[in-house]
Amino acid sequence: MRVLVVNGPNLNRLGRRDPAHYGAHTLADVEAAVSARASELGVEVSFFQSNHEGSIIDHLQAESEAADGIVINPGALTHYGLSLRDALADTGLPIIEVHLSNIHAREKFRSVSVIAPIARGQIAGQGWKGYISALDLIVDSLKESR
Ligand code: DQA
Repeated sequence: MRVLVVNGPNLNRLGRRDPAHYGAHTLADVEAAVSARASELGVEVSFFQSNHEGSIIDHLQAESEAADGIVINPGALTHYGLSLRDALADTGLPIIEVHLSNIHAREKFRSVSVIAPIARGQIAGQGWKGYISALDLIVDSLKESR
C-alpha cells in the first residue's frame, strides 16, 4: 500500500513561517514523523512539496497510478486551486485534506475549501499531528475496502 503525501505552496517554510498558526516543526520533521508512523502501519509513503500548482498536478499525474491514497495539505491552493482539484479528482484515489491551522477559525477566505468536496475528509487545527491522523484514516479505510 502506497500513500502520496503532498504539500503545497509555502509549506517548505514550516518551522520558520508564522509558528503561532503552523507550529515549530519543519517540513522535514513532519515527514520524519509520518515516515515513522508509516513504518508502524507497514505502508509506503512518498513525499512531495511544491510552490507551483502545475508541478503538483504533474506529480499527481505521474504517481497516482502507482498509489492507493493521497494525504494533501494544499496550502492556499485549498481556497482557489481548481486545476489542483480537477487533478486530484482525476486520480480516483481516496484523499484526506490536512491543515495545520484551523482554517475555519481564521480569515473568512480560508474557511472555503475547493478541495473538500472531492476529499474523503478534512483535518484542520491539529498541527503536525493532523498528518498522522490523516495517514491513519486513509490506511484504515483502504484496509477496510480490501
Ligand atoms: C494551511 C492553511 C492555508 O490557508 C494556508 O494558506 C497555508 C497553510 C494550513 O496548513 O493551515 O498555507 O493549509
